[in-house]
Amino acid sequence: MCILSKRSRYAINAIQEEDAAAAVLSRSGKKIIKLNRGDPPAYFKTPEYTLKAYAKAILEGKTYYSSGVGLEELRIAVAKRYKRMYAVDVSPDDVIVTQGISEALLFINASLINQGDRAVIFRPYYTQYVPDLELYGGVPILERYVESMDWSIDPDRLDRSIRKDLSRGRMPKYLILTNPNNPTGTVLSSGVLEEVVEIANNYGMILVSDEIYDEITYNGAKFKSISSLAKGVPHIILNGASKGYDATGFRIGFAIVPGDDDVSDAIKSKLKDFAMVRLSANTPAQYAMAEALNREREHGIAIRRMRKEIAERVNFAVNLLNESKYLHVVRPKGAFYLFPRFEKEELKLNDDHGFVEKLLKEEGVQITRGSGFGERNHIRIVALAPNEILEEAILRIEKFCRRHSK
Ligand SMILES: Cc1ncc(COP(=O)(O)O)c(C=O)c1O
Repeated sequence: MCILSKRSRYAINAIQEEDAAAAVLSRSGKKIIKLNRGDPPAYFKTPEYTLKAYAKAILEGKTYYSSGVGLEELRIAVAKRYKRMYAVDVSPDDVIVTQGISEALLFINASLINQGDRAVIFRPYYTQYVPDLELYGGVPILERYVESMDWSIDPDRLDRSIRKDLSRGRMPKYLILTNPNNPTGTVLSSGVLEEVVEIANNYGMILVSDEIYDEITYNGAKFKSISSLAKGVPHIILNGASKGYDATGFRIGFAIVPGDDDVSDAIKSKLKDFAMVRLSANTPAQYAMAEALNREREHGIAIRRMRKEIAERVNFAVNLLNESKYLHVVRPKGAFYLFPRFEKEELKLNDDHGFVEKLLKEEGVQITRGSGFGERNHIRIVALAPNEILEEAILRIEKFCRRHSK
């Protein structure tokens, strides 16, 4: 008998799977360039006012449990942000504070998914979406972000595909979007989003929109939040401290359910139950996040600076990759990832897994395999490091491809 449950196999994360091998190499004296984790504060210090607010909360002894659903101050600050940025009416009561979006995803699946229930996930997807769904017995319907359309969605194809599933009696419960996208960097146009909202509405699917990179857009992108488009369609917006607020280690996220229809009310209430079950998110971090959200002017300055720097690094890396003989990349408009494709026929490597494993061993560069995002023959590079590190890494990747070319 195996002591572990069958479902324990869903505890997987491709982004960190080479960490142990990288640590061994590093201990043996090899210099490793780590471009696998999308961790802004590792490169851009969290703003001083946010850090001070965290320290203040601790020194004032605010180290107790907060309310399970989150501090009132923080939920008010989140509601104000959505009014300010997207002109949408969100009540603090619509906000559930979680330990990162990572926890919100678990709560959503735990709340909605019965054995065999389906959800529409576009690939390449953020690594956690599929295993989290499967952990709760769900089955993904894998639709596509289309590479030849700059990784956008083809709404007609989506509609046809869902209709086909419906004719087989498969009714998806929710559809999840990542916008701006990890790993492709796509920012979906409002036209495409409107069509997706319509499709969700037509088929009675709940829309989940992961907008953690909503303030990290550039190269002419025009981001639109689903919160300002999905009026009347039950939807859940996911966001948090990790990226734009530059505080991944706070582990603070929020699920926002703005609708007041019966479906939205039921979801909201159940997400709150799950939040109560695990007692509380990190209390000092919630105080700090409330402060970060309320410091509108200072945040504006910090995010503009970070966005500009990220855009420069991403574009610098894309320009270098565009000179590659082996890698082909779509220029991102948001987030800070590059997702190049390689032609399997051109390289003597079994697959993307072999690519990243060998690259780490031979060149000391740690990246993530595309299949971890549901897309083989691709690799993901985090472009947050300064240009000289990105340059060194990309030169090593090119050298590696040349050595393994057919
Ligand atoms: C699209 C997306 N969603 C969610 C997360 C996880 O966010 P959190 O740190 O809030 O758990 C990430 C982290 O990289 C992400 O890229």
